[in-house]
Amino acid sequence: MTPETRIVQSWSSNAAVWADAIQADALESRRLATNAAIVDAVLRTHGQRVLDVGCGEGWLARELARAGRAVVGFDGSDTLVERARQNTDAAILLLDYAAFAADPAAVGGPFDSAVCNFSILARDILPLLDAIRRCVRSGGTLVIQTVHPLAAGGRYEDGWREETFAGLAGEWAPMPWYFRTFASWVAELHAAQWRLTDCREPVHPGTGAPASLILCATPAE
Ligand SMILES: C[S@@+](CC[C@H](N)C(=O)[O-])C[C@H]1O[C@@H](n2cnc3c(N)ncnc32)[C@H](O)[C@@H]1O
Repeated sequence: MTPETRIVQSWSSNAAVWADAIQADALESRRLATNAAIVDAVLRTHGQRVLDVGCGEGWLARELARAGRAVVGFDGSDTLVERARQNTDAAILLLDYAAFAADPAAVGGPFDSAVCNFSILARDILPLLDAIRRCVRSGGTLVIQTVHPLAAGGRYEDGWREETFAGLAGEWAPMPWYFRTFASWVAELHAAQWRLTDCREPVHPGTGAPASLILCATPAE
C-alpha cells in the first residue's frame, strides 16, 4: 500500500476520534496559536468566496462562514463530511483530492481564496496545487498552514514521517505524512504556478517555539 493510500485510510479510521478531539479543543497548539492564525490569515484575503480544502469536521468553514465568507469545503472522509455538515451551514462536499484534481470544477468557483489547514500531507502535491489554482480567480490567494519545518525534529530534508497522535485520547491509526523543508514548499508552489506573497510563523505563546508555518500565494500571471 502506498503512503498516500494509507493517509486516506487513516482519515477514515481516525475520523470519529479526530472530530471529537477538534470539537473538545484538545490540541494545545491549535487552541493557543494556529486556529486564530489561520482564521486571521484567511480573513485578511480579499473577497467573499473561500474554498476549504480538506475541511475535516468543518470548524474552519464554520468560523469563516460566521465571519461572513461564502465557504465551500470538501474532504475525502465521509464521516468527517457528515460531521462538518452538522457543524456548519457552509456547503460541504465529499470529494477526494484525486477526484478534485481530475475535475476542479466539481467544487464550483471561481473562489477569491482557498485554504489548506494542515490538509496537505502527501508527497506528490502538484496535481492538488494545480487544481486549486484553476478554481481561484486571478489575483486571489491560497493560504496553506502546515507543520513548521524547524519544529518537526529529525533530519532537515524532505521525506516521509509518521504521526502517531500520541497524547490524544482514543484509539488512533498512525498516519504517514511527507515532511518538506521551507525551500521545498516554495519550490512546489512555484512548480504549480503559484507566486509566494506572504509567510507567517505563529509562535506557541508558552514555549516560544514556532507553532506552524503559513504560506500565502497568488496565481502566477
Ligand atoms: C489534519 S486534518 C485537517 C482538517 C481540517 N483542515 C482542520 O483544520 O481541522 C487533514 C484532513 O485532510 C483530509 N485529506 C487528507 N488527504 C486527503 C485526500 N487525498 N483527499 C481528501 N481529503 C484528504 C483528511 O480527510 C482530513 O480531514
